[in-house]
Amino acid sequence: MSKKSTVVARSGRFQGGPAVEAAGFSESVSFDWRLWEHDIRGSIAHARMLHRIGVLAKAELRAIVRGLEGIAADILRGRFRWRAEFEDVHMNIEAELTRRVPAGAKLHTGRSRNDQVALDMRMWVRDAIIVLNRDVRDLQRALVDLAAHNAGVRLPGYTHLQRAQPVLVAHHLLAYVEMLERDIQRFGGCYVRANVCPLGSGALAGSTLPLDREFVARQLGFVDAAGRPKLTRNSMDAVSDRDFAVEFCGVAALLAVHLSRLAEDLVLWASAEFDFIRIADSYTTGSSLMPQKKNPDIAELARGKSGRVIGNLVALLTLLKGLPMSYNRDLQEDKERLFDTVDTVAATLRVLAPMLRHTTIHAPACEAAASDPHLLATDLAEYLVRKGMPFRRAHHVVGAVVALADRRGTPLDQLTLKDLQAVDRTFRADAPAVFNLQQALARRNLPGGPGTNEVRRQLARWRKLLSAQP
Ligand code: ARG
Repeated sequence: MSKKSTVVARSGRFQGGPAVEAAGFSESVSFDWRLWEHDIRGSIAHARMLHRIGVLAKAELRAIVRGLEGIAADILRGRFRWRAEFEDVHMNIEAELTRRVPAGAKLHTGRSRNDQVALDMRMWVRDAIIVLNRDVRDLQRALVDLAAHNAGVRLPGYTHLQRAQPVLVAHHLLAYVEMLERDIQRFGGCYVRANVCPLGSGALAGSTLPLDREFVARQLGFVDAAGRPKLTRNSMDAVSDRDFAVEFCGVAALLAVHLSRLAEDLVLWASAEFDFIRIADSYTTGSSLMPQKKNPDIAELARGKSGRVIGNLVALLTLLKGLPMSYNRDLQEDKERLFDTVDTVAATLRVLAPMLRHTTIHAPACEAAASDPHLLATDLAEYLVRKGMPFRRAHHVVGAVVALADRRGTPLDQLTLKDLQAVDRTFRADAPAVFNLQQALARRNLPGGPGTNEVRRQLARWRKLLSAQP
């Protein structure tokens, strides 16, 4: 037997290697090499456990750990040669280890690539969540900073993309901070469910050897808040379960959708029609044909890339839906979707945050739009409610007032008290005061409302919360 054949999965039973086409079609090392660090950490923990239960002698353990650390160092320096003939990251590392250290041939005791890859993926997802959370926090900070720098600026709030009621720019921006906060919470839930150790599940039916699963789980940080090891409870489920990857991609897809909606607002606001923001030249592009153009391509791409992330989620769900128990090779297709999701969402977060730091609110245009008196029609109806009128009637009366203003071509706030009283006698001399925008916002101080004090309170809350976060 050649040295190589002691490690490849085809040894013993097979005559000759796989067909060239079959090998090329099934190799995954070209993309799953990215799991190398987690694979090595998992192998070291597994080796320590094998020593504990008497499978590896002290010297063998030491040689294996040193060998794996040497491989890690080589990979880091770009000196490791990944070989497609070893199929995947797991076999590449194990083959090289065994070439360097004879005891490497004992490493795979009580382990299958099926529980090994499930382990690597869970560890990888845990780290991805930590990294993405940090990126989301940074975007939240950029949004809060932009909101705080423009604390007094007002703009119309829209429904149906029609001007609706006045809000503060800060309130609009903090809406995204809230969405991102829920994304972080969802990632937290996903982390808890990914943080369960599958090693010891073997190919699907565990092992006859007395593996110490709790020891491995502890070594790799698969513990709950109280430090108790978290182990998968069903070996068949453990090797075939990719719920944690689907859930991660689902949370990431929703995050990407939130980023896309933010990007859409920025694209709209950067248009001449809105003119609410100025994005720095360095985050925009010109047209190859029209010399005057300044295009918000970065925001557009942030919007567009959400499509890939949503696609990745759908691809994973489709991949899983017809699989019989337990492990099936189809599962290898999960990695590129997962990796692409993380890469795409991280890249989007990492460009949106600095772009917002290079974006200014164009206050005159916001204020001009916010001073549209139509935005306060609801306030006029609530004025009538305060005078005792049922809201349905007040809604009708103010509708008639708006129609009158439209008919005359007069702004709503320019109608005289007489005009108002011609529509309904309930209007009094204090009615025109409704159109004071400053007061209109000062009045909107319900919890969660867009009022001046409430938004100031929310800004302070976010500032404090975010300064306490990594
Ligand atoms: N590369 C494989 C994957 O990603 C590892 C597990 C292979 N297991 C097997 N029995 N062929 O799923």
